[in-house]
Amino acid sequence: MTTTKIIQFTAGHPNPEGMKTAVSVLRAGGLVAFPTETVYGLGADALNIDAVQKVFEAKGRPSDNPLIVHVASLEIAWHFMSEISNKGINLAKRFWPGPLTLIVKRKLIVPDIVTAGLGTVAIRIPNHPVTLELLKYFEGGIVGPSANISGRPSPTSAEHVYYDLHDRIDLILDAGPTTIGMESTVIDVTSDPPAILRIGGLNREDIEKEIGNTLRTSAQEILRRSPGTRHRHYAPQAHVILVPQNDRETFIKQLSTLKKDGKNIGAITYSEGLNTIDVTKFHLILSSSVQRYAQNIFHALRELDSLAVDYILIESVEEKGIGAAVMDRLMKAAQNS
Ligand code: TXA
Ligand code: MG
Repeated sequence: MTTTKIIQFTAGHPNPEGMKTAVSVLRAGGLVAFPTETVYGLGADALNIDAVQKVFEAKGRPSDNPLIVHVASLEIAWHFMSEISNKGINLAKRFWPGPLTLIVKRKLIVPDIVTAGLGTVAIRIPNHPVTLELLKYFEGGIVGPSANISGRPSPTSAEHVYYDLHDRIDLILDAGPTTIGMESTVIDVTSDPPAILRIGGLNREDIEKEIGNTLRTSAQEILRRSPGTRHRHYAPQAHVILVPQNDRETFIKQLSTLKKDGKNIGAITYSEGLNTIDVTKFHLILSSSVQRYAQNIFHALRELDSLAVDYILIESVEEKGIGAAVMDRLMKAAQNS
């Protein structure tokens, strides 16, 4: 068992000692959870097989689910990738640092454990000052799956990381809650047109403005290219039921059925029509701004779990912009529960 240390980073207050500690833990093959603009990642030296193995163990992650390698610059990305298409370069130049992960052909130096034996590797430059500095001093690649126990909602604060992984990892760099709250968008640029394998912090609309159409991938095709996506994801312990936007009648019907069965019910809503229904004492009301909803939804799921509800009724959002990522996560959470 490891005692997990937490180091605070506050915007505008450099913490060179903290940074030095983080770099030396990584160099020694330890595990460091780091903040990004999307969610917190669980970091280890991408070229250290034992360290990467510990990442899989700490998360309970299936070994066929490959990891993203985080880097500080396109120049360092070239240590890990062997080639990239023009569209891939355009996306990198336009959106890095940012919530975009590119799947590219790998170099042989990348350990098989990182790529789950695939011929490709996932690369991202995250947009967070603390982690960009960490990457710069580390001068290499840092693997970073979301820093949660596999299958659970991704962590959007250091508290979530601590809750899931304390005593399993060495260090957490706490820079407060993340701003986007959804994971990065994963795009496979080894094909033309490129294929979106996971919609996330970057919209399809913005991607297509840059490179034209992307492939309309079937679920089958996503599984073929990204085998790890078949595993259980984003699921709280409670059962999740998605309800339509601002639809009082359906909501009340669902509610009374569950209540008849004597279930403990939680709810997450944001529209006037549903906010005002007297559901239960476990009713979380989120902002009607879809950005803020995205930012807070994983926290809300964790909070209701901690209150041990049996069911969570969740209000749907429109599937455009970041709303597409939110609905993708909520539908998976509902399927898995
Ligand atoms: O926002 C994010 O992407 C966060 C932060 C920490 O950067 N990381 C993250 O990592 O969400 P993870 O491991 O939870 O999700 C990475 C996704 C998985 O769906 C994985 O299967 C896919 O990327 N992936 C990784 N390498 C791949 C590859 N070579 N080919 C296809 N998919 C890959
Ligand atoms: Mg994850």
